[in-house]
Amino acid sequence: MKKEEIKVSYSIFQNPEELPEKDLVLLQRAEKALTGSYSPYSDFRVGAAVLLANGEIVEGANQENAAYPSGLCAERVALFYASAKYENIPVVALAITARSARFEVTRPVPPCGSCCQVMAETESRFGEQIRVILRGESGPAFVVEGINNLLPFMFHPEMLKK
Ligand code: THU
Repeated sequence: MKKEEIKVSYSIFQNPEELPEKDLVLLQRAEKALTGSYSPYSDFRVGAAVLLANGEIVEGANQENAAYPSGLCAERVALFYASAKYENIPVVALAITARSARFEVTRPVPPCGSCCQVMAETESRFGEQIRVILRGESGPAFVVEGINNLLPFMFHPEMLKK
């Protein structure tokens, strides 16, 4: 038996104003996207903004449903919409933020496992890593370079081949 370790890395910006300009703009678009959240069941709004290689920014927000599993996270709303609207344009970056009606979200909110899996597919599809910018309502911002640093044991399309 042998044990292995996987290390993930990310950058912390205690003051989000210190983020590179492009990241800050994308984060602001994710904040704007919060208004599109339909979240009467969790009262937890999530906003996402996707930057594409052609410079376009696509926004998404979580959409809930009385049949809970029928809802969809903000990240997947944005990624699927970007793919549907801008066919075959690589995804460069994704910013995510969240607000709760019940408490102040002071920590960065990472994408859930299913959203990570969709990000993994997007990276494989275009052969490019996605830069992920995370911030709550207040507190630090995190920057994570690529799905490897979020979901190291991702299932990727190559696994379907012999
Ligand atoms: N949610 C997202 O939109 N993104 C995530 O990565 C985690 C969770 C949404 C789903 C649901 O509408 C609410 O947050 C509470 O889970």
